[in-house]
Amino acid sequence: MVQLPILVRRIQAAGHIAGVQLSRALDRNLAGPFVVYIEVTKKCNVRCQFCDIWIAKEETKNEMSTEDLLRLTADLKELGTKAVALFGGEALLRRDLFDVIAAMKRAGLYITLDTNGYLLPQFHERIDDSGVDMLVASLDGAREPLVDSLRGLPGTFKRTVEGLRLLRARNTKMKLVINTLIVRDNFRELLDVIRLGEELGIRNFRLLAFNSIYPYNMCGQQSMNLNLHPEELPELQEKIEEVIQYCKSRDLTLNPHEFLRGIPDYYSRNHPAVNCYVGYASLNIWNNGDVGYCVGIPGGVGNIRNTPLLDIWQSKEFAQRRSETMSEPCNKCYVACHLEQNYWFNPRLLMNRAMGRA
Ligand SMILES: C[S@@+](CC[C@H](N)C(=O)[O-])C[C@H]1O[C@@H](n2cnc3c(N)ncnc32)[C@H](O)[C@@H]1O
Ligand code: SF4
Ligand code: SF4
Repeated sequence: MVQLPILVRRIQAAGHIAGVQLSRALDRNLAGPFVVYIEVTKKCNVRCQFCDIWIAKEETKNEMSTEDLLRLTADLKELGTKAVALFGGEALLRRDLFDVIAAMKRAGLYITLDTNGYLLPQFHERIDDSGVDMLVASLDGAREPLVDSLRGLPGTFKRTVEGLRLLRARNTKMKLVINTLIVRDNFRELLDVIRLGEELGIRNFRLLAFNSIYPYNMCGQQSMNLNLHPEELPELQEKIEEVIQYCKSRDLTLNPHEFLRGIPDYYSRNHPAVNCYVGYASLNIWNNGDVGYCVGIPGGVGNIRNTPLLDIWQSKEFAQRRSETMSEPCNKCYVACHLEQNYWFNPRLLMNRAMGRA
């Protein structure tokens, strides 16, 4: 039987989702952002081939302070936001991370933390004790040389696997998720990652499409060798289908299937446009405090360091810019967190999902 506090939270979440749907339909601010993605730092300790945040040193000089993040937390509570996703860069590089997480927990937020895994063995106990609800660790292959080469730092594979093993050995209550970015070097081995995850006791997996836009490509230094060639895309389709069927048969969770099946179309620049819900359902707070919504638009519509988020959210400027961006269906990106949330908020996609078509 579902416990009462969980039931209350589910009803509140359903009400919030309905508020976001109505907000978009009427182009009004009838509910606060359901989820806020917070880039707590752009500093990074690894050197991935597919993301060049680690090169953008200038961008790490003016990051939000502890006070900024605590003020932001209070505003999120007031806005009724339900969840925060803390990402980077590598969030574990922030010294005050666990103080901020403690404040977010007190504010009743559901907390997701993204990590590249390199520091997991060192921090696994603190993360587990901090109240983080979901830990998302990147693992782009099941072979050490492949992962270490994609991530540009020897030891990444071993440390990530070790960190996950240590968390499972603690019987962690956190939801553990493995994120795998699909690139040319690993697309034939996706199922191996799922099997490795299962061996580690992990039951939640996400496959991500390689995007070549902001915020992963800050300096134009991503390696373009990672793009699949057009003649490889039918095989990718097969591999994705294989993963979907495998996860179904083992009752493992995976991203929405319609999203996954659309990745080859995205790679051939041929995927359909969607009515995106960013700006209604979610916001991005960049490491310098800029408030954004769509990843296709670098920069922000205000900054939480000089204006409370509540005021930015209710401002005419924000409403106008969002309305302009969102008036047309869009197919400029395939960033998983942004597009996947559409499966919760876009009534057509939600319906497809409920009927098992997605
Ligand atoms: C921006 S990272 C932040 C967390 C951490 N630094 C990491 O890599 O896991 C969040 C997710 O985005 C993925 N990612 C990195 N570069 C990407 C790209 N060019 N396109 C799509 N996803 C990407 C990472 O693999 C990771 O799973
Ligand atoms: S993908 Fe993550 S780990 Fe890799 S460089 Fe970007 S932020 Fe760092
Ligand atoms: S799909 Fe379009 S509107 Fe939505 S986040 Fe991507 S670029 Fe922005």
